[in-house]
Amino acid sequence: MRYPEETIQEVIALNDIVDVVSGYVQLNPRSGNHLGLCPFHSEKTPSFSVSQSKQMFYCFGCSTGGNVLTFIMKIENLDFMEALKTLADRVRYRLPEKEESASAKEQRASRERSAEINKRAARFYHDYLYSDTPDGENARKYLEERGVHPKLVMRFGLGLSPNLWDGLIKHLSDTSPEHIAAAGLATQNRKDATRYYDRFRSRLMFPIIDPRNRVVGFGGRIMGEPQDPDRQEAKYVNTPETSLFHKSDNLYGLNLARKARKTELIIVEGYMDVLAMHQWGFTNTVGVLGTALNDSHARLLKNAGCTSVVLMLDGDEAGIRATLRAIPTLTKGGIKIKTLNISEHDQQAKDPDEYLQRHGATPLAELIRNAKSHIAFQMGLSKEKYDMNTTDGRVGFTEEAAKLLSTLPSAIETEAYVAEISKISDISEGAIHTEINKQKGIAPTVMPNIRRRTRAAPQSRGVKKAKETLLHLVLSHHSAAVALEESGYIGPQEIDDGIYSELLALAFANAAAGKQVRPVDIISSFESGDFHQAITEIFIDAPEYNTDAAIEKALNETAFIIKRAWALNEMQKEDVKNNQETLQTLGFMVRNMPSISI
Ligand code: GTP
Ligand code: MN
Repeated sequence: MRYPEETIQEVIALNDIVDVVSGYVQLNPRSGNHLGLCPFHSEKTPSFSVSQSKQMFYCFGCSTGGNVLTFIMKIENLDFMEALKTLADRVRYRLPEKEESASAKEQRASRERSAEINKRAARFYHDYLYSDTPDGENARKYLEERGVHPKLVMRFGLGLSPNLWDGLIKHLSDTSPEHIAAAGLATQNRKDATRYYDRFRSRLMFPIIDPRNRVVGFGGRIMGEPQDPDRQEAKYVNTPETSLFHKSDNLYGLNLARKARKTELIIVEGYMDVLAMHQWGFTNTVGVLGTALNDSHARLLKNAGCTSVVLMLDGDEAGIRATLRAIPTLTKGGIKIKTLNISEHDQQAKDPDEYLQRHGATPLAELIRNAKSHIAFQMGLSKEKYDMNTTDGRVGFTEEAAKLLSTLPSAIETEAYVAEISKISDISEGAIHTEINKQKGIAPTVMPNIRRRTRAAPQSRGVKKAKETLLHLVLSHHSAAVALEESGYIGPQEIDDGIYSELLALAFANAAAGKQVRPVDIISSFESGDFHQAITEIFIDAPEYNTDAAIEKALNETAFIIKRAWALNEMQKEDVKNNQETLQTLGFMVRNMPSISI
């Protein structure tokens, strides 16, 4: 899949970062660097710095940083590969054709075949909906009764599958039924494997279109309500998971919603809801395809330029659970969340479609504008859990609410919620702030606490700085990497998991192979933009050590700081506390500087 490292490095080397960034940001040379207003957050005084010598950028205001590839990824909202292509095109560099394995080739061929079959099926279903048949007429009448305007039917390419076992299979007579089945549109007969029948029969068809504008699957709704409970006829039948269609990698209507070019998207549950929302002017609406919102959705949303969502999921228990699950996933993906439960505003309306039919767009627009952040939603839930008439209940609620607020980055928002909680719980704002700080791991400044000092500090700035300096040393100087690895003093467990341990491993591996990689290229050996930032922080203003003596001194000092923090933390662990021998060893480490010689 990936291009060779050398190719990536070449493309980066050909695109000077100051040149590229200057196309977007006005830069002024200042003491060796170039300064400008950060394009990734709003600011009045420049804290966005581009280093020509390091070929990196870093914003001291919002901590966004990386190399030229990161910059293009972030500013153009592209993934790694797309950004690489953009930069290659910029300098007319021809990227080599990628080698594909035989099975990858077959997979791709199968996906292309399925996309073609789906496209033809969509046309077939659409034509059938507009055919001069009783079925077609009936379906058009049904849509009309439900208030779906023909314009929407066209825009979404809706269709109708005939009430036949082989309507589509016959229509695609030049295509093998196996391939139609692989596209999810036919099913193999259970008893006679040579026979196939149409998966979708007599259903309203909703084509699902992916970001590349391919029809990847369908939702099929029964006409009218499911009536025969004995036959267990489902209201909706969807394309099953195929090589082309994964319901958790798609959002219904995203192809149209991204055209609205809004940074806020509205997420609803049903196909009919998406149609209704678009019809009433909320063209920035997408639907989840009967699955939980996950990381892929977060990525999809971000790629569509979305930075915040309004979740309009059902207010029933399942909907609440889905909302709660979506919160951490989307937050992690950097997407802000507001929630809106329609039924709270009109008990007769169980979904946005019904609400719009009853009230129209204006009151809904108002509700969306006033939708509360997910914090309010979660606070509402925890309030219901506690009996606010008792002290215990009020304390329990306040503690839970404080925990929620400790995750909120905005001080202004925090302030507003604290006032609200104080009113509800009758607990003073000061006490709530103290509780929030406790949850954040910040000690109150008024109470010097001796015991706290012996407790392992959560990774302090000093330790983080030491880790960054140490990584800088071992990534820049083979001698330092070799010496550190041989000493066994600092390994992945001491340095932390995640990106730091990966970088340490990389330094050891490069040293062993005698390979020197430029910092700017280390950045793009990782695909995630989050890693780019962490790596840039290590290199952007690390001090340079030029003599062996200086390197050795810095290596020992930083290694000691890291080891000591680690050992202090270990000593707090329950199973270690009672083990005298381990405690002694750890205590020795806390007091004694190593002597690693390079
Ligand atoms: P209407 O009843 O026509 O208004 O449809 P709706 O889109 O509002 O459907 P509903 O609120 O009942 O369900 C919401 C979503 O859940 C649907 O759009 C489907 O994605 C999914 N869903 C509902 N019923 C079924 C079902 O029987 N099978 C499957 N696989 N998914 C379903
Ligand atoms: Mn509905």
